[in-house]
This record gives sequence, C-alpha cells and structure tokens, in this order.
Amino acid sequence: ERVSLWGGRFAGGPSRELQALSQSTHFDWRLAPYDIAGSRAHARVLAQAGLLTSDELTGMIDALDRLERDVAAGEFLPVLADEDVHTALERGLIERAGPELGGKLRAGRSRNDQIATLVRSFLREQARTLANLVLDVVDALVEQAAAHPSAPMPGRTHLQHAQPVLLAHQLLAHAWPLLRDVDRWIDWDVRAARSPYGSGALAGSSLGLDPVAVATDLGFDGPVENSIDGTASRDVVAEFAFVSAMTGIDLSRFSEEIILWNTKEFGFVRLDDAYSTGSSIMPQKKNPDIAELARGKAGRVIGDLTGLLATLKGLPLAYNRDLQEDKEPVFDQVDTLAVLLPAFAGMVRTLTFDTDRMAALAPQGFSLATDIAEWLVRQGVPFRVAHEVAGACVKFCEDRGIELWDLTDAELAEISEHLTPDVRAVLSVEGSLASRDAVGGTAPARVAEQLDAARARSAEY
Ligand code: ARG
Repeated sequence: ERVSLWGGRFAGGPSRELQALSQSTHFDWRLAPYDIAGSRAHARVLAQAGLLTSDELTGMIDALDRLERDVAAGEFLPVLADEDVHTALERGLIERAGPELGGKLRAGRSRNDQIATLVRSFLREQARTLANLVLDVVDALVEQAAAHPSAPMPGRTHLQHAQPVLLAHQLLAHAWPLLRDVDRWIDWDVRAARSPYGSGALAGSSLGLDPVAVATDLGFDGPVENSIDGTASRDVVAEFAFVSAMTGIDLSRFSEEIILWNTKEFGFVRLDDAYSTGSSIMPQKKNPDIAELARGKAGRVIGDLTGLLATLKGLPLAYNRDLQEDKEPVFDQVDTLAVLLPAFAGMVRTLTFDTDRMAALAPQGFSLATDIAEWLVRQGVPFRVAHEVAGACVKFCEDRGIELWDLTDAELAEISEHLTPDVRAVLSVEGSLASRDAVGGTAPARVAEQLDAARARSAEY
C-alpha cells in the first residue's frame, strides 16, 4: 500500500509525470542515516513532552534501530512511490512499528525542518572528511618543500621570468591557500552547528517539544534562533559550496603549473608512473591527467556553487520546493573532491623535480634586474633613477646577447657612474635569494621558518 505523507485532502495519488519530477530518493537516500538519527532525537522530545509513553518510546527507538540496520544492509530501500527520503523512512518505520505507533512520530515536525537539519548534519561530517583530505595535500607539499630547502627556480609574474625564488617557497605558496580552505571549513562549522529541528513547517511547534534537546542530541551547538530562517535559508549550504569550489580552484591553480612544468619546454618536473597516464596511440606519451582532471573538475565544482546560488536568489520566505535543488550540487562537490584530493596528494608526493634545470633557468630572462635596482637604492640612488639604470643594463645586454653578470667593469661604468663592480654581489641567484630576507620572503632562512610554520599549522588541526 502506498504511504503518502500528505494524502488527506487529495482525491487521488499524484500523476506519474509529477512523481517522476518530484522524486528525490535517487540522491537524498544518502541522508537516510541522518534522518533516522533525527527521528530518534525527535522521539525523545515527544516522550519528554508526554506525547509518547515510555513503552512507546522504547518501541519507537527499537523500530528505528531495526530500520537503521536494514537501511545499512541495503535490505530496506526506497520505492518509486516514495517521494523522498522522509517518505520512504516513514514507510519503513510503519512497517516495523505498526501504523499506530509509527504514525505518532511525525507530530510536531515537518520535512522542512527535517531536511534543513539533515543537510547540515551531513555537510558537517563531510567538511571534516574533506578538511583532512586537504591537509594530506598540504602535507605532501610540505614534504616536497622540506626535500628541496635550497633549490632555486624562476619565479614568474604574467608567466614571464620575474625574480628567482626557492622551489620550496613556490610549493608553500600553494599550501597556505589550502590551509585557509581548511580554516574556512572550521569557521563555517560555527554557523552550520545550529539545528533547524523544531522549526516545524516554518512557525515552530505548538506541542511543547524542546529544540535545544534535539539539537544537543544531534551534536549541534544549539537550535536556530528563528524557525522561518531555519527552514528557508540555505546560505550555510552555499557557504559550504563556496569553500568546496575554492578548494577546487586552489588545486586547479597548482595543476596548471604542474601541467606546464611537465612539458618538454619547461622540463621542471617528472610525474610518477602511478600518477600519470599513457596514450592509446602515441607510445611515448605520459600525461598529467590528475592535474588536468583537477583543473577540469574545478569548473564542475564552481558550476555546483553558481547553480545553487541561482536557485536561492529569488526565493521568498519560507520553504519552497526549489530548495530540494540544494542537495545535488553539494553532493556532487563532496563526491568530486573525495576522489580528487587523494589522487592529487599522491601526485604531489611523487613529483620528481629537475632542480638543475630549474636552477639554470632561475637567472634567465634578466630576472636579476630588480636586484641591481635595489642594490643602487642601498647606495643612496633614488629608485626612479635606479630603475632606469637597471633597465639600461638589460637593454645593453639584450642588444649584445649577453647576461647581466657578463657586464665588464668598464661596461657597468659606461651605463652608469653608480654601477661599481660591487654590484656583482647581487648578480647571482644565491645573492638575490639571500637578500630577500624579511618575513615571508624567499631567503632560504625565511623559507625554512615558513616551512616550520606550515608544518605546525597543519599539525594543529
Ligand atoms: N524533499 C524536500 C527537500 O529536499 C523536503 C520536502 C519538503 N516538501 C514539502 N512539500 N514541504 O527539500
């Protein structure tokens, strides 16, 4: 027999077309364990309020426990007539507890406060899992940075050679945003930790049920302050979606570099066989598919976020069925990141850097020109003049096809009276790196401190 949650005022069941459109069990079924946990907590406050006897509560909890086991074992599943996870589980409860007792559980709650609570419970758990997976990528970056404490490479802006930096510095520049993504999930949890249970359909419950008790029971810090807000808002879901999208973007930025570094032209990095793929036609190929998939999937998780935001933007208070569309985007993000992050961590951990090539290219493209200008400033030359002089050095060298460190004493003096032979001290990668020794700079001593800080931050969580 068909169990509907709302059949009373209807002459017949829904059309097949409506059923097909309306159904959500193919994606919301993963919330079943959270719905059952919510039901247990709700049964307890019903008993507290005197709406279930203690025998009824025992019977209800027992039936819910059995239902939970059957769901976990795959023995109880939603059927076509079940509109959503709540409908299916009510059917399962009634099958186990009987219609008399099973029919009492729904008092004082609505699918509106139920679903709003379940999504939060689910996402809070997922945020912890994803944060740990992100931290593993951070640890892989930290390990690689630690393995290359003094290897220089060309630092770039506009993808052009800019100034030499340490490889460890560049790698850690990808670790910090990921650590902030973890921070974001932690900050987010403060807002996610309010339970909408007890908001009812929108106006709260008249049955004397205690939202604080339900919230505590379900591991929330407390109930939402406003029952309309509790059932109608999804900013907490959208914020989760933003952090997921940002994480995808942060992986994608690094991916782009790995893909470039792995080209013949760059030749900075080699991918481990276990973390790269071949071509079905070109036998020589070894492709950076993990990085490419990370870059591609970033587009997908951004789409999840923007789709969700678009769903939310026009909604009047309180619950609207549009809100059913909040789940698939974040489920997709969670599933995407759950497969991406471990593969990404493995790829990073097994990268082999060609540090000789990186070091050889570090001073190319006149990347020490800024060092000349800053050396001149230390000699008391105004920066405007210093910039001109260093630029003239570059032009002089470019015209003759030589490098800055090839300039003779006479040529230096010819370019500017300020350029004494002492300037050569900064015309090396080592000299340039060592000179950038303020906090956050690329000097080896500073990067070593930074590495310790990143390691400590990652261990804090
Ligand atoms: N399945 C819905 C959702 O995911 C919850 C049900 C609310 N339905 C309703 N007619 N009030 O948001």
